[in-house]
Amino acid sequence: MPDPLNVLFVSAEAEPLVKVGGLGDVAGSLPRALRSLPLNDAGGRAIDVRLVIPFHSVITHRLPDLQLIGNFQVPHPSGPIPARVFMTTINQMPVYLIEGPPILSGTTVYSTNPIEDGEKYIFFSLASLELATRLDWKPDILHFNDWHTAIAAYELANRRKTSSSYARIKSVLSIHNLPFMGGGAETVVRSFGIPPATDDRLPVWARSFPLPLGLLAADHIIAVSPTYAQEILAPEFGCGLQDFLKTRSDCISGILNGIDEKGWDPSTDTALAGNFSVSELDQRLINKKSLLEEFQLPYSPNIPLLIMIGRIDNQKGMDLAIEGLRMVTDQPWQAILLGTGDPLLESAARSLEVELPDRVRAAIRFDLLLSHRMYAGGDMLLMPSRYEPCGLAQMIAMRYGCVPVARETGGLKDTIRDNREPGGGNGYLFKEASPAAFTVALLRALAMYPNRPAWQAMQIRGMTQDFSWKQSARAYAEIYLNLQEREPC
Ligand code: GLC
Repeated sequence: MPDPLNVLFVSAEAEPLVKVGGLGDVAGSLPRALRSLPLNDAGGRAIDVRLVIPFHSVITHRLPDLQLIGNFQVPHPSGPIPARVFMTTINQMPVYLIEGPPILSGTTVYSTNPIEDGEKYIFFSLASLELATRLDWKPDILHFNDWHTAIAAYELANRRKTSSSYARIKSVLSIHNLPFMGGGAETVVRSFGIPPATDDRLPVWARSFPLPLGLLAADHIIAVSPTYAQEILAPEFGCGLQDFLKTRSDCISGILNGIDEKGWDPSTDTALAGNFSVSELDQRLINKKSLLEEFQLPYSPNIPLLIMIGRIDNQKGMDLAIEGLRMVTDQPWQAILLGTGDPLLESAARSLEVELPDRVRAAIRFDLLLSHRMYAGGDMLLMPSRYEPCGLAQMIAMRYGCVPVARETGGLKDTIRDNREPGGGNGYLFKEASPAAFTVALLRALAMYPNRPAWQAMQIRGMTQDFSWKQSARAYAEIYLNLQEREPC
């Protein structure tokens, strides 16, 4: 029996311990999917993935088997910083939690202060590298995610040159959101003794930014959808790194995220007023009625309920949705908006509720259980994202029979088929990031809604699509295995 392939998955957040956004979902579900891949999908080798995250002060889960397994120091020019490592097991997977002064000092997972976050995540990144050589278990691959852990890929490449403990370890870096590069933390990077890059492929401004440094050094780069992997090579989505990324394009793959199909299953979801499946789609109505009642909105069979769920920020296009909805008030619809984020956009959502009190509700909060009820009760999910590396909400919505109206970008393009496509689609897409373009797609959806058989056929196409991790986990395994056999990039 060949040795297992050991992968340490390094992330700022991971469900069920701590989740702020999509990264938390992915770090919670992908490692599990990889661990349960059949041996013949991974070249005959078991994949022993383990997770490491910071021991954030917001982690309040009861962890009965939590053990302190080690103490070490992270080198720093003005004196080493102590780190403690705890271990627990979640769904049979070993999970390491790193604690240290820069992690303990924060009260939230991400702050708005780039220096504070820089200190926390650069410490965490370097501590995860130390951990990799201090365990009895030896990782073959370190899989980093986003800017928070990217600097470790850069540092690994440096250490590989001089240290035999790191010589055989390969790195993978996933891009979940390119614009977040760790800008503002350059002084922190330097304060940890990490000099700016000298490689002139990287723009001068990016040479001490954590994410670009990681992208320069990682042995393989993964974007979270095939379309996003292409988009980041062009100016519109490349954030100034497009020319540099093109020089690395042989080492970039686009792999679509999956969703946790057990956690998101309308036939068993205990958060719902009524469970349902494709064969009993009418049961969905119980959820719609109960959701409307919860928000004190009237029920009428011909009025579609539009929902929007997630971070309220420029990326997600809440402003496009709000403006667009204002343009179609002559149509029948009701809307519930859920999320938190940019205070200006939050207040724009609240203003829409004030303007249209008989049809709009803005729930400005993070409420996971409410999101389940909304996916199950909503008729259409609005996702007018300016960019969307993958997007999970549209996949969850489709699994729950809620039809997406979304911008044709990134993972939205890869998961949603427009209803005009031959054979029918599972949603509505538009191209330009403008309220007007959004309303064209929305009006098409609103016009189709009264046609129950056609609408149900579309719901069923969405509900029966494969959003599991199976395919993607195989693609990750292939990358890990190839890397092992290859010289570093
Ligand atoms: C980020 C991206 C989102 C993606 C998620 C998980 O939150 O904005 O598109 O689905 O990461 O990869």
